[in-house]
Amino acid sequence: MSDFNKEICYITTPIYYVNDVPHIGHSYTTIAADTLARYKRFLGEDVFFLTGTDEHGQKIQKTAKSKGVTSKQLADSVVVNFQNLWKKLDITNNFFVRTTDNYHIKCVQNAFEKLYEKGDIYKGEYEGWYCIPCESYYSEIEIGSERLCPSCGRKVDMVKEESYFFKLSAYEDRLLQFYEANPDFVLPKTRYNEIISFVKSGLRDLSITRTSFDWGVPVPFDDKHVIYVWFDALLNYISSIGYAESRDEFFKTWPADVHFVGKDILRFHAVYWPAFLMALGLPMPKHIAAHGWWTVDGKKMSKSLGNVVDPNDMIERYPRDAYRYFLLRNVPFGLDGDFSEKELIERINSELVNDLGNLLNRSITMVEKYTDGVVEKPAAVSGDSLDAKAKEVFENIQRSLDIFRFDEALSDIFEFIRFSNKYITQKEPWSLKKQGKEEELKEVLYNIISALKFIAGVVSPFMPDTADKIFSQLGFDKSVSEYNYKFFTDFYSIDKTVVKKGDVIFERIEEEKKSDKKSKQEEVQKKKISIDEFFNVDLRTAKVLDAVSVEKSKKLLKLTIDVGEDKPRTLVAGLKEYYKPEELIGRTIVVVANLKPAKLMGIESNGMLLAAKDGKSLALLGVSGEVAPGAKIG
Ligand code: ME8
Repeated sequence: MSDFNKEICYITTPIYYVNDVPHIGHSYTTIAADTLARYKRFLGEDVFFLTGTDEHGQKIQKTAKSKGVTSKQLADSVVVNFQNLWKKLDITNNFFVRTTDNYHIKCVQNAFEKLYEKGDIYKGEYEGWYCIPCESYYSEIEIGSERLCPSCGRKVDMVKEESYFFKLSAYEDRLLQFYEANPDFVLPKTRYNEIISFVKSGLRDLSITRTSFDWGVPVPFDDKHVIYVWFDALLNYISSIGYAESRDEFFKTWPADVHFVGKDILRFHAVYWPAFLMALGLPMPKHIAAHGWWTVDGKKMSKSLGNVVDPNDMIERYPRDAYRYFLLRNVPFGLDGDFSEKELIERINSELVNDLGNLLNRSITMVEKYTDGVVEKPAAVSGDSLDAKAKEVFENIQRSLDIFRFDEALSDIFEFIRFSNKYITQKEPWSLKKQGKEEELKEVLYNIISALKFIAGVVSPFMPDTADKIFSQLGFDKSVSEYNYKFFTDFYSIDKTVVKKGDVIFERIEEEKKSDKKSKQEEVQKKKISIDEFFNVDLRTAKVLDAVSVEKSKKLLKLTIDVGEDKPRTLVAGLKEYYKPEELIGRTIVVVANLKPAKLMGIESNGMLLAAKDGKSLALLGVSGEVAPGAKIG
């Protein structure tokens, strides 16, 4: 065997059973792995990202029989559900393994033979409590007096059969030594402790073959037996990269950097798999990253409850980036999470539309308006606050992703987005324009565009479509993935660019029911906000220059207001029932100046005026002294 010469970052998902359709849980693991793979590629690493399907076993054989097809036919028809979904989600796996593929079968048989010859596998007789649907034996303690499967809750059967065993008990001490020397092997930490206690409680030898069914890899020298699913399944991680053939790729790729798994299969990955590898004389994977369990609206997903969330359905109704964002942002990696469409919509509207979309939109609009879309590196660049913040955020992102905290990395990115919005509010490019401070204006706009370039880079592993849309509006034709990451993290890497406004990157999602909307408004009103969030609202005084009634509308008046800008603005407001147009002319009112334009009765309204309302009457907010139009309120 050649020496190990690891060059390639190796990331895997579990291989999913083909007796189920893919749901939100499967998509979560795969999206997490895809995000890490994209992030490593972003850093310039060579990545091999593997996913696939687990196609053997009694459950699959039974399902096939009930459908009147062969097991292979069933697998062939279901595997496309996974493959198509990964395409739709733009998953960038380098290979798709199927355990019915020949290279895999050969690898499993080779490994089995090797361990048999070494004495790590021996023939014996197994008797135990067995759960057929879960294909697992359980101890007396695990099944309790009711004799129910601890995993699915069904009744278990006492089964006795001739079986080959793997000498797991012989690896107890070596495993414990390995865990001790590698405290980051299982992440998050709570799960690491759980694994150590499990091993310390004593390991029994593992039965790894069955004679009771035949849909599996045959034992090469005893074809009465098929190799039990876990020995078969786990070996996919080495069969796919050419272990059996001693391919060069194997030595460049193994050991895996991370196996992503759900907490349900952690034990198999953190105990059995390292023991198999020790027996084969192979190095250990660096990390097993175990995430928590998704429920839906507080309930376990199940076909009988009819609450299984189909990712295909989600990405038909929402942008796929929003779905990726929600899954990774809403739950700290490792903890259980609950899926609710209402929360998904809330995150789209508040973070993707308001924070990110608004930042891009207002920035591009300003650059087009003030410098004809041109942004150039100023002659002397100095450490701007956005540059310093970007550096700090990038370090945090790296730290978080080293331990698979996707949620934290996203929270840092969005902190930067809000920081950038605040920067605009504080620097007031519109005032710089008005005061004729052209050089300062150009520098501020350059910094804002550079902040957006940084954002395009760091969101790209999480939301690849969005990253490219931002990048394109910044005036770049290629995909983010075609640039070196340094272009995004070196703050002053743009020499010159011409921005071009595109469509909004995320559309606001209107909630269906009014009652939902009302309760959301109430929630928003009750929610406490930070000072930064408050400063994102640009409140200004405005003088009403003109006011006319909007035809065919019972409520609306059209105002022309002076907000201290070059040109007056049009604002449409529901004031007709309370004010005559002429009563408003000449008044100083208070407006939200940085609200996105909205069309009311076909008229574009730019801003919102503030008024107090108690159910019967309405009074406009004003100021008690003389101030110029456009004065900032804070
Ligand atoms: O266990 N929440 O395959 P599987 C979060 N073939 N993740 C979930 C989930 C949920 N509700 N439901 C499923 C197998 N998952 C074996 C694996 S690997 C060598 C063999 C995800 O189809 C999660 O990653 O039952 C979990 O570990 C995996 O799907 C189980 O997939």
